[in-house]
Amino acid sequence: MNYYVMTLFPEMVTDGLNTSIIGRAAAKGVISFEAVNIRDYTKEKHGHVDDAPYGGGAGMVMQAEPVCDCYEDLCRRIGSRPRVLYMTPQGRVFNQKIAQELAKEENLVFLCGHYEGIDERALELIVTDNLSIGDYVLTGGELPAMVMIDCISRLVPGVLNNDMSAEEESFHDNLLEYPQYTRPEDYRGLKVPEVLLSGHHKNIYEWRRRQSIRRTFERRPDLLEEAVLDKKEKQFLEQLKKEKEQGETE
Ligand code: ADE
Repeated sequence: MNYYVMTLFPEMVTDGLNTSIIGRAAAKGVISFEAVNIRDYTKEKHGHVDDAPYGGGAGMVMQAEPVCDCYEDLCRRIGSRPRVLYMTPQGRVFNQKIAQELAKEENLVFLCGHYEGIDERALELIVTDNLSIGDYVLTGGELPAMVMIDCISRLVPGVLNNDMSAEEESFHDNLLEYPQYTRPEDYRGLKVPEVLLSGHHKNIYEWRRRQSIRRTFERRPDLLEEAVLDKKEKQFLEQLKKEKEQGETE
């Protein structure tokens, strides 16, 4: 997986991604990222990439030409025309499913705006996906791009040490992760659930699945609509619903 981040603040992106697991994966060569400075593509003698909005209003708008030239030059260099993900609060809200879909691509371009946004014509010409990281407004697209790159990279084979862990964590089968415990067995009187000490793999698996279902039911019931449950698990969920109804009427 190769990421290209089009930005006016390249250091912000490279510094942020060069740490931790993502930095190590890049050093290993499993993924690569390059921050491309949109400012390098301006023809304006003072290096400006923005101008006042037509029609008036506050703030400045990033011009179409440096943005499009930056993308075209990138395409020439790499010999393909990858998807361009524009970071915007107006986009589809990013989630694990979108991450899984994007992880299949070989190259991804992230377009980060600043100021009051980017001239609409550049967006019309090059953007394939509008994506948001949530219903709040940030000062630029760099943090959203880093959030998405982190999330997508975990799904790229070879990035995490253990191939299974990306699968088992939160949102696998659309369920939240079960609780985890490590030594000691007793901490301030709080004990590790007995089943986890039993060494009985089937029981442990079933206990964890039930914990995941219970947690999702209590904390994020909206996820359950698309959860993947077997027959016994569906019965368990029905039982949780009944218990809740009874609790509410008592
Ligand atoms: N740019 C500004 N706010 C954003 C958000 N919430 N998601 C993606 N890009 C943004």
